[in-house]
Amino acid sequence: MKTGEKAAIAVVGLLVIGMVAFGITYEPEFKQTPEFASDTPDTHASGATAQASRAIPQDITAGNLPDPESNGAKSLVLYCVQCHDLAPPTMHNAGEWQAVLARMQRYMAERRGGMLIRLIRPPEKAWQELSEYLTSHALLSLPAPTALRVENQSGKAFLDFCSQCHSAPDPTRYPADTWQNTVARMVRHMRHANKRVPDAPTSAMITDYLAQYSPITPPVAPAARAP
Ligand code: HEC
Ligand code: HEC
Repeated sequence: MKTGEKAAIAVVGLLVIGMVAFGITYEPEFKQTPEFASDTPDTHASGATAQASRAIPQDITAGNLPDPESNGAKSLVLYCVQCHDLAPPTMHNAGEWQAVLARMQRYMAERRGGMLIRLIRPPEKAWQELSEYLTSHALLSLPAPTALRVENQSGKAFLDFCSQCHSAPDPTRYPADTWQNTVARMVRHMRHANKRVPDAPTSAMITDYLAQYSPITPPVAPAARAP
């Protein structure tokens, strides 16, 4: 064997030993790192991630997102799936998103919420684009719970069941024929999230209640939606 080859083998050998040794010392050190230094009761990574994964549906993919080619959608797919599933912009209204983003920014600073060996933090510009993206495709909620006649039984059931995860939606801003599917989907989300679930007659009542306020044809083009 030539000296050059011997040297090369020695270098590779040292590299392998180095990697093994690094793995052995690095891993327990990582496991011992307290995941959160936080005042919230939820002080364990798996607990927090489980909580998030219940609140967020499991079946959202990048292709389901509105305007998937925009920078905002790309940032959502890049930065926001590091600790939990992909959250679609329609799951909160614009105001709620500001609060959620502020919380997520804090979690990222604390490295909270998962096995994060390497966490990619969004630069300032990406936060801006995320905020604009989520806001412009957000859930269209009622300006106030009193904006509809909610004193009857169906109105009360609507407010009760449909404000558990996001503000109650504004039926005047969604077409009437969407409610059947939407309510069925929301019931699935409620089961997944471990929330109170309406029985079948109550779901039907909520669907009819919402449809009576909704226009028959789409009120606004999705692209022209205001928060
Ligand atoms: C460092 C880990 C981490 C990253 C990265 C992260 N999250 Fe979260 N997220 C959490 C944790 C922990 C929870 C559960 C606790 C909570 O809701 O405050 C959560 C919960 C959520 C929820 C469900 C709770 C709710 O209020 O609806 C949404 C939506 C969400 N995150 C959106 C996002 C978005 C958008 C981003 C990207 C900007 C993001 N997350 C990035 C850790 C993270
Ligand atoms: C368990 C939490 C949860 C509850 C409770 C809930 N939703 Fe939702 N809602 C979601 C999530 C998650 C999304 C986004 C994903 C989707 O549209 O399936 C959403 C989105 C929406 C949207 C926007 C859909 C779109 O495509 O623009 C409407 C409208 C809506 N919900 C109505 C309702 C109604 C009506 C109820 C009560 C029957 C309800 N929600 C209860 C979680 C919930």
